[in-house]
Amino acid sequence: MNAPPDWDTLGFAFLATDWMYRAEADTDRDPPWEAGRFVPFGNLSLSPAAAVLSYGCGCFEGLKARRGVDGRVRLFRPDAHGARFARSAERLALPPFAVARFVEMAAGLAWRNGRFVPPAGKGTLYLRPMMHGTEALLGARRSRYAGLTAYASPVGDVFGRDQGLRLKVMGTARAATGGTGGAKAMGNYAGVLLHKEAAVREGFDDLLFLDGSGRAQLGEASGANLFCVLDDGTLATPPLDDTILAGVTRDSAVRVAEEVLGLRVEQRPLSLVEVRARAREAFCTGTGWSVRPVAMLGGDGWECRLGPPDVATRMGDVLEGIRSGAHPDPFGWTVDVADRAELEEA
Ligand SMILES: Cc1ncc(COP(=O)(O)O)c(C=O)c1O
Repeated sequence: MNAPPDWDTLGFAFLATDWMYRAEADTDRDPPWEAGRFVPFGNLSLSPAAAVLSYGCGCFEGLKARRGVDGRVRLFRPDAHGARFARSAERLALPPFAVARFVEMAAGLAWRNGRFVPPAGKGTLYLRPMMHGTEALLGARRSRYAGLTAYASPVGDVFGRDQGLRLKVMGTARAATGGTGGAKAMGNYAGVLLHKEAAVREGFDDLLFLDGSGRAQLGEASGANLFCVLDDGTLATPPLDDTILAGVTRDSAVRVAEEVLGLRVEQRPLSLVEVRARAREAFCTGTGWSVRPVAMLGGDGWECRLGPPDVATRMGDVLEGIRSGAHPDPFGWTVDVADRAELEEA
């Protein structure tokens, strides 16, 4: 049996836990998805000709379970992650998995791996549901069979705790207009790695891509969305399209900004020129990254320093308070894992 890690030195890396979830679909069946099951964590068995291995027919999600100061373990917006998982599957010609089942699966996975949920304030249990086309195929077409696998791993912060990010602004989009950027598609991630390695060698932490418009408008980072606080106090973020992932944290940040912090929010194209001239502050949002201030944007031969975090700090505090149960949850975003698991056992 795997031992829980040292909670004080937890980083963002894979650690095996006790249980994973498996379900299989046959799209010639109605409904396609069989009843799933929790099984001990272990390797998968796939045909070398499985559609996912050659053609990238796969998508995934990332969500977290957190232990609150009250000891209870909560998921943050599993329904929103489930809805995005279904949209990603549809975009990749895979059979969508029902949102209600996704929420039960996530709660059950966190519950069964409970001894790997870090103590309050020490990290989170990251849940990674994935869907893969598993039919043995030579010649790309829709896969008749699909497999859902979800595992859990305890994680700490992606970046150092108080680190303001240095982002390299790329001259290109991460995903093409009409492509799969709006889905959490496997292939969107591999294409970034080479650029990220080069940027890290130059002293950056990550990349900031343009949107797909071809007009030097900002899009998103490799694993997070972007917000800028402009000189008039407005909070601006690029609008969603098929080149930008609809972040659950992004959506939460928009609502917290408007309804809790009382800020004006604009979802509109943000040119690099405008951001360099008008941004007081910038931050990235994501499940893995949380709310992470941006200290500097740079490119070949230029850099733009951003002001100290103010909105980012307040936003981070509100979101963290809701996620951990330390503050009331006016939006109904959290799901108590124990309540769900009791339902499942009943
Ligand atoms: C490319 C990309 N953009 C944005 C996000 C942020 O999404 P979320 O807030 O749902 O984690 C992620 C992380 O999942 C991502 O991979």
